[in-house]
Amino acid sequence: MAAHRGEWSSKLGFVFAAAGSAIGLGNIWRFPYIVGENGGAAFVFVYVFFVIAIGLPYMFAELALGRSVQRNPVGAIEAIKPGSAWKAVGYLGVITGLGILSFYGVIAGWTVGYIYKMFVGNPGNFGQFIGDPLTVIPLFAFFIIITALIVHGGVSGGIEKWSKILMPIFFILLVGLIVYSVTLDGAEKGLSFYLMPDFSKISGKTILAALGQAFFSLSLGMGLMITYGSYVSKKENLVTSAVYIALFDTLIAIMAGLVIFPALFAMGKSPEAGPTLVFVVLPELFLQMPGGLIVGALFFILLSVAALTSTISLLEVPVAYVVDEMKMSRKTVVWIVAFVAFLLGLPSALSQGASAYWSHFGWIPKRLASQDFLSQMSFIFGDFSLAFGAFVLSIFIGWVWGAKYAADEIETGSSAFSKGRQLWIFMIRYFIPVIIFLILLNLFGIF
Ligand code: PHE
Repeated sequence: MAAHRGEWSSKLGFVFAAAGSAIGLGNIWRFPYIVGENGGAAFVFVYVFFVIAIGLPYMFAELALGRSVQRNPVGAIEAIKPGSAWKAVGYLGVITGLGILSFYGVIAGWTVGYIYKMFVGNPGNFGQFIGDPLTVIPLFAFFIIITALIVHGGVSGGIEKWSKILMPIFFILLVGLIVYSVTLDGAEKGLSFYLMPDFSKISGKTILAALGQAFFSLSLGMGLMITYGSYVSKKENLVTSAVYIALFDTLIAIMAGLVIFPALFAMGKSPEAGPTLVFVVLPELFLQMPGGLIVGALFFILLSVAALTSTISLLEVPVAYVVDEMKMSRKTVVWIVAFVAFLLGLPSALSQGASAYWSHFGWIPKRLASQDFLSQMSFIFGDFSLAFGAFVLSIFIGWVWGAKYAADEIETGSSAFSKGRQLWIFMIRYFIPVIIFLILLNLFGIF
């Protein structure tokens, strides 16, 4: 069974690929604007709390399920509880992967566009850029094609090789940018917005946003870690792997904020710009920096790569499902799924000014997401669906599969886990589902 599926070639390969999935536009593009919209440091505080108290223990569960049964999310559930309705959450994961990929690919396309803008030395007007369908659609298509080409190459051949080389370079570049940004005139105001919490700014919406962002950023709640876990060998230590993934991911997000907020306040701009925040602040920062255009080009290249290791993983979930369950060839499936994601992404691509219809879509209440189709997709798939998926999966793993079996699987390869075992069982069965449930209820205005 395992033979045609592929396996990571080394522990480092797995950690890099999973960290590559986790680290992406979620850290650099989404995290800063959500922090900005939700009042700054207090949000960051809640976010970090959720990463440690919910995201990390929940990640153990997804990895354990995947490694134990070596299947995609749908197949994994089927293996544990054949013929049951629980499978629906596996399908939800597959659909969520497609849904996120569709809008994520659009933003990734913008990132590629900015590489070019940096090379020609003129970022131009951002609103005009994203409102031009003849620019954004080809860029989006380009990004989906590159993603498909790499996923095409298979698990260790494609995904792993790329992640290992480029992630460390990105890290170093970010460190350099922080140093530059915090030394700008007026940077202190940005630092205090970002780091000195004012807890009166926390509301129900903030809390859901923090939870949703934690799942989004860690690639949790849609079975991605089930899928990646299914390629991990029994010898690996799932606990330390997960800790590294969460640590790197959170570190990169915090670092992105340290670049953005000092620069933003130094420029006298408002943190509440929404999804366009990073694209407005960073190019301006690069323009005023000595040698900034080269740095900027490098930055957008690396950000595109970080996005690529995430889109690869988003495509991998539906692909793994079709390959395992319908026994179709990987090569064909990749292109079909990529094409579906592209079609699904077109309205998002057109929703930033190109089409009035998609730009004012307003499916869901304004208090939850802005009116454009892309923001609505980001809320439905990027926040709600992940939180809901994690809620159902934690119940499935904690109660249906059985926390004991999950804990045994985690302990295989990490004997030290036995010390925290009881605590973890409590978390996965009670703490995690109850907290997510309360937050989701709150979303519907029940309190
Ligand atoms: N975690 C990725 C990011 O932060 C996005 C993602 C979400 C990838 C869910 C896979 C699954 O950019």
